[in-house]
Amino acid sequence: MDLFWITLFLHLLGATIWAGGHLVLALAILPRALRAGDPALLKGYAMGYMRIAMPALALQIVTGFWLALQVVPDWRTWLSFSDPQTIGIGIKIVLLGATLGLIASRMLGGHSHHGPGGLKNMAWHLRAMTLVAVLFLAAGAFLRTGGF
Ligand code: HEM
Repeated sequence: MDLFWITLFLHLLGATIWAGGHLVLALAILPRALRAGDPALLKGYAMGYMRIAMPALALQIVTGFWLALQVVPDWRTWLSFSDPQTIGIGIKIVLLGATLGLIASRMLGGHSHHGPGGLKNMAWHLRAMTLVAVLFLAAGAFLRTGGF
C-alpha cells in the first residue's frame, strides 16, 4: 500500500476527530450547558473527548508535516505563500500556532473556568477552537485544489 495514501488516510481520520468533536461540543453540548447554566455539563463531555482529541492533534501534526514534505519538499519555502500548496501549508502552520496558543492559555489560565463567568470563558474558548478547527479543514481542501 502506498505510504502517502496511508498517511493521508490517517490525517483525514484525525481531522474528523478534531473538527467533528469540536463541532459537536460547540453546537450540541455547549448550548445545553448555557441554557442550564451548568459548566459541569460541558466539562464532563469535554474531559472525555480530550482523551481522543489530544492524540488526534498529535497525529495531525506528525502526518501533516510529513504530507507537507511530500507536497513541498523544500521546507524553507513553506512560509512563502507563493502558490496554493505553500499558502495552504503556511495557513496551517499559523493555525497550529493559534491552536497551541489557545491550549496554553487554557492551561496557564488555571481555574478561570471555575466560579461566575467560568462557563462564558469556556464557551468563547471552545468557539475559538472550533473556528480554527474548521479553518484547518478549509486550508486542507484548498491545498490540493487552490480553491474553487
Ligand atoms: C487539526 C489540524 C488539521 C486538520 C483538521 C487538517 C485537515 C486536513 C484536510 C481535511 C486535508 C485535505 C486532504 C485532501 O487533500 O483531500 C488536509 C490536507 C493536508 N494537510 Fe492537514 N490538517 C490539519 C493539520 C495539518 C498540519 C499541522 C499540517 C502541516 C503543515 C498539515 C498539512 C497538510 C497537507 C500538506 C495536506 C495536503 C495533502 C494532499 O496533498 O492531499 N495539516 N488536512
